[in-house]
Amino acid sequence: MEFSTQTTASLHQLKTAALGVGIFADGILSPAADQIDRASDGAVRAVVKSEFRATVGESLVLRNLPGVAAQRVVLIGLGKQEEYKAATLASGERAFIAACVKANVTEAASSLAALPMQDVPVRARVRSAAIAAGDATYRYDATFGKPDKDKRPKLKKVVHVVAAGEAADAKTGLQEGRAIAEGMNLTKLLGNLPPNICTPTYLGETAKRLAAEFKTLKVEVLERKQIEALGMGSFLSVARGSEEAPRFIVLRHPGSAAKKLAAKPAGKTSGGDGPVVLVGKGITFDSGGISIKPAATMDEMKYDMCGAASVLGTFRALAELDLPFEVIGLIASCENMPSGKALKPGDVVTSMAGHTIEVLNTDAEGRLVLCDALTYAERFKPAAVIDIATLTGACVVALGHVNTGLFTQDDDLADSLLKAGRASLDTAWRMPLEDAYQEQLKSNFADIANIGGPPAGSVTAACFLSRFTKAYRWAHLDIAGTAWKGGKEKGATGRPVPLLVQYLLDRQASRA
Ligand code: BES
Ligand code: MN
Ligand code: ZN
Repeated sequence: MEFSTQTTASLHQLKTAALGVGIFADGILSPAADQIDRASDGAVRAVVKSEFRATVGESLVLRNLPGVAAQRVVLIGLGKQEEYKAATLASGERAFIAACVKANVTEAASSLAALPMQDVPVRARVRSAAIAAGDATYRYDATFGKPDKDKRPKLKKVVHVVAAGEAADAKTGLQEGRAIAEGMNLTKLLGNLPPNICTPTYLGETAKRLAAEFKTLKVEVLERKQIEALGMGSFLSVARGSEEAPRFIVLRHPGSAAKKLAAKPAGKTSGGDGPVVLVGKGITFDSGGISIKPAATMDEMKYDMCGAASVLGTFRALAELDLPFEVIGLIASCENMPSGKALKPGDVVTSMAGHTIEVLNTDAEGRLVLCDALTYAERFKPAAVIDIATLTGACVVALGHVNTGLFTQDDDLADSLLKAGRASLDTAWRMPLEDAYQEQLKSNFADIANIGGPPAGSVTAACFLSRFTKAYRWAHLDIAGTAWKGGKEKGATGRPVPLLVQYLLDRQASRA
């Protein structure tokens, strides 16, 4: 998908297959809709009056309006004007793109981002419109016998129309939005690919392909022998049950040296000038292992690598945007399978940090692979470490599919991540992480148990991870409910790529 910006005072002269204009409830036209209405001698107002209620997400295609160069004008409902907000813009843009796809057009122009919004500058408006457009044109067709070309959206280009003085900011927002959308699409593709294709080896190859495409990216893919040499006994205990070879992937975005900004003085809250480290859970299939899961929805456990996929998607966006500071990505990837060699309940394993772990349930494998990756992260002297994992069903129970669970004891880091989530419409909700919950992880036979019983399951999972994060500022994102959708619309969502990229963009802004 291509995007560009355009400024125009005379929208009615814009030549395009489809022009999107916003309509508020109670017959209130956006300035763009008003322009078209005047040029067409009241055609828009007449239709709005008789048959368009302008609820959020509603759209209506008008063809060949007199005095208007666009072949189609698409009216887009934006709801009540006084309630207009960023989420409405995104919904409106999605509705517009859906109408364009349905009409089989190859290019279109949207005026939605031109509409002013309280506290949301044009850069953020265009960014979120571009994300919504990229999101709405994603289609999965990698594993159909005959990929049906007719089902693929023909829409290849979307122009965002903005006011003349806003062109430069709009362009920046557009680049950011496009990079985020493309990162999300990679994340979605990896999540949706079947587990017999998207194996740990495949994730490693994907990382290498990314580094071949973006020369600034460096990648190292460690194989079993190298992982053994590092002493990642906990990670390897999970990998043991599967025929698929594990991979430990290290990505490095160095940040263009010339653009590197002066370091802020090192301190506990600023975290110094080390890199941000993103750590992804990459279980390419989670059968539960010997503590096997029920059959009914086990196929969905192919999504158990969405944390890893979001790290790769975020790196794709980072490389595209060429952000001026260092970011490291770590992915611990293997399958969780039952077999004669598999990890058993009761086994005690030794982590890279030296802590012993009593495995009481082999289905709590995410924390077992992540803990060694978190220990590995220490060597980068990070400013902050954020892990991303489809870690617990309990998080889905607590927060559903709306918010990602955020766990950290660092209030500044929590605020930054929550803010980034709100700004990118990829929200997180802070959950508790107090020492009192650590009690539940006591073991009679090792330093720590890998489960804490039914109460507060997502919190005790985070508590487990926290034991391995004492050397740096750390936050954990549980994306079990937000990385993918079940049911009829089953598929990966590309979350939390928008949140992560926004967090990094905000960090850049605060350092400039
Ligand atoms: N990958 C699952 C968590 C999960 C569940 C993700 C549902 C997405 C949807 C994780 O490895 C797991 O199995 N967790 C267990 C932990 C339990 C055994 C303590 C769970 O949540 O049931
Ligand atoms: Mn599991
Ligand atoms: Zn899992």
